[in-house]
Amino acid sequence: MHDSLGITTVEDVDLAAVDVPAAGSQTSKQVAGAPAAPIDRLVLAAARAQAGELSRLAAESTTALAAALASRGAGADEAVVQLAARCVPRWHFAMLNDTERNDALAVAVERLVRPGMHVLDIGAGTGLLAMMAARAGAGRVTSCEANPLLAEIARQLVAANGMSDVVDVVAGRSTDLMVGRELARPADLIVSEIVDCGLVGEGLLPTIRHARHGLLTPGGQVMPQAARLFGFLIESPVIIGLNRVTQASGFDVRLLNATSTSGHFPVRLSTWPHRELTPAVDLAAFDLATGHLGDGSVVVRMPVTHDGTAQALVVWFELDLGAGITIRNSPDNLQSHWMQALVPLPADRPVTADTTVELRLTWHGERLYAG
Ligand SMILES: C[S@@+](CC[C@H](N)C(=O)[O-])C[C@H]1O[C@@H](n2cnc3c(N)ncnc32)[C@H](O)[C@@H]1O
Repeated sequence: MHDSLGITTVEDVDLAAVDVPAAGSQTSKQVAGAPAAPIDRLVLAAARAQAGELSRLAAESTTALAAALASRGAGADEAVVQLAARCVPRWHFAMLNDTERNDALAVAVERLVRPGMHVLDIGAGTGLLAMMAARAGAGRVTSCEANPLLAEIARQLVAANGMSDVVDVVAGRSTDLMVGRELARPADLIVSEIVDCGLVGEGLLPTIRHARHGLLTPGGQVMPQAARLFGFLIESPVIIGLNRVTQASGFDVRLLNATSTSGHFPVRLSTWPHRELTPAVDLAAFDLATGHLGDGSVVVRMPVTHDGTAQALVVWFELDLGAGITIRNSPDNLQSHWMQALVPLPADRPVTADTTVELRLTWHGERLYAG
């Protein structure tokens, strides 16, 4: 199918007829007749689901582009709005309405920026930190944003706030920036808030490691400066049921568990029934200013206070922004837009009060794992 602009969409492709490379030079067509293993059929179906999503995006982008090129009737505006809504994660709204977060960032930026500094803002979003830095007296702010739509929104907001002469918004990932190209000179201060409920989920560690070495002047500072993870073990069949199934109406539906999340995902702990089996313990610490910031793991010893079945580790962070300012998403902080990170254990683990349980917490890529 071709749309009115003559663009071929993914829907044009008959996925059932696509050759999937098999071992050697064979393709799935060449081995047709041999029944595909259930796992292969899951992989193929997952690829189809992904292709379907891309196809929908392509179709919506095409409609929005056509609308932009045409006379912009009411229907055209709606197409553009729908596309924009899909391109920006919904949590940006809750995040910008989190006054505790915003106030902490504003005070830290105010205290860290010196007049005339060159500040690099990683992850502009709406340009909030960049504008805070300009307001605090920075001479130049380079602000980068991986999402092109957000970058454009940030650029227009910066202009609307009369800061375009100081703040330069670049659409792109920080890891693609170069001194002498997007940055006239290395930054004196790097500010960022690229933190999810489990700290690492937006790529904080590799992003800061790269920026520190490639984009920061020797002796320059980073904000946040350090982070710590805390957590306790819980028993909660209801929370585990957010990510694991057994039967429904008498039918075995466990195959769906092939799509379960093995790493962390957000949960507002206070809204779900659960039993805490250990006290909160220190899990890990990260020195963002000088630490290694690679993937890693720690073995933690947790004193068990109640008999039960440990099913998940609930994790939260404390972020040291520098200049004496910290923010955290602990379970008792109901104001924070960040929920807690639920890290499922690979299997239920019976635990007994007055013993100690050993657990390995791993941070790999953008996920936390416990085992
Ligand atoms: C949590 S939001 C924060 C936005 C804004 N700084 C604020 O505090 O309101 C993080 C933003 O950073 C962007 N981002 C994450 N990693 C990035 C990177 N390495 N380079 C550029 N943008 C990044 C995401 O697309 C997202 O819009």
